[in-house]
Amino acid sequence: MQQAKIAVAGATGRLGRHVVGVLGAAGHKVVPISRSAGVDVITGDGLAEALTGAAAIIDVTAGPGSGQRAATGFFTAAARNLQQAGERAGVARYVLVSIIGIQKSTGGYGSAKLAHEQAVLAGPVPARILRVAQFHELVGVLMDRGRRGEVIYLPQMRTQIIAARTVAGALAAMATSSQAEFAAARAAGSAGAPVPELAGPREENLASLARLIAARRGDQARIEEVTAADPDSQAAADGSLLPGPHARLAGPTFQEWLATQPDSGSAG
Ligand SMILES: NC(=O)c1ccc[n+]([C@@H]2O[C@H](COP(=O)([O-])OP(=O)(O)OC[C@H]3O[C@@H](n4cnc5c(N)ncnc54)[C@H](OP(=O)(O)O)[C@@H]3O)[C@@H](O)[C@H]2O)c1
Repeated sequence: MQQAKIAVAGATGRLGRHVVGVLGAAGHKVVPISRSAGVDVITGDGLAEALTGAAAIIDVTAGPGSGQRAATGFFTAAARNLQQAGERAGVARYVLVSIIGIQKSTGGYGSAKLAHEQAVLAGPVPARILRVAQFHELVGVLMDRGRRGEVIYLPQMRTQIIAARTVAGALAAMATSSQAEFAAARAAGSAGAPVPELAGPREENLASLARLIAARRGDQARIEEVTAADPDSQAAADGSLLPGPHARLAGPTFQEWLATQPDSGSAG
């Protein structure tokens, strides 16, 4: 696709800011969608104006809650509103980020993302999904969330973690691919091909990565692994949510990425 106008829903988020950066660097015109930019995917405020003239929507939104009910409510409403406003504005493509392994989900956030995927695919604008691994940027966020005094509690998790910037590049490529490529990939999906997956170069353990960040921060906190409340916590711990054999792998490794972070990976 030549340089185009692309709407990024969730433009200010951990992933969205990189999507905006990658598209801008490639010369595309980016329309940022977020409440801080005056556009709300739940109430619909500002959505019609934002999508006018857009060739594609990249959906990297996330709501306030990670529980199944709250997250499902947010994602399905956001998908419905973006799809309907997108159709009215003549948007030709919808690209959604999702999470590797959610087809095995038994509840919680994974099931909410599955509902997100289904709501996006049910809409009138032709859609493609990219399932990705956890972001490098998530480790510092989970550490801050899990801190109780001098102990940091983290869920047991095997993850083939990836840089948000790498995911952003793949989403941008999907949204701006040729018409033939976009249509062929959708046809393959309808014929039963697995949903594309993108993960980092190697499997890591969440707690071990957190210890690397703690060492760089000079943080003396003890890091303890716990069983999380999420219904998929056992699957995360035993490796069931790692990428499938068809996944594309891309760097940098977590260690390479961390070495480039001026704030020791805490910015999210
Ligand atoms: N984090 C991970 O490791 C990971 C891994 C795989 C997939 N994902 C998926 O990637 C997506 C993005 O995750 P993230 O960590 O980048 O999320 P995030 O940092 O929480 O960003 C969420 C974005 O959504 C926007 N937003 C929230 N409510 C909105 C509303 N009502 N209207 C318009 N915009 C709204 C926020 O902007 P405002 O607050 O300004 O509205 C922000 O730009 C999610 O769908 C997540 O499931 C995440």
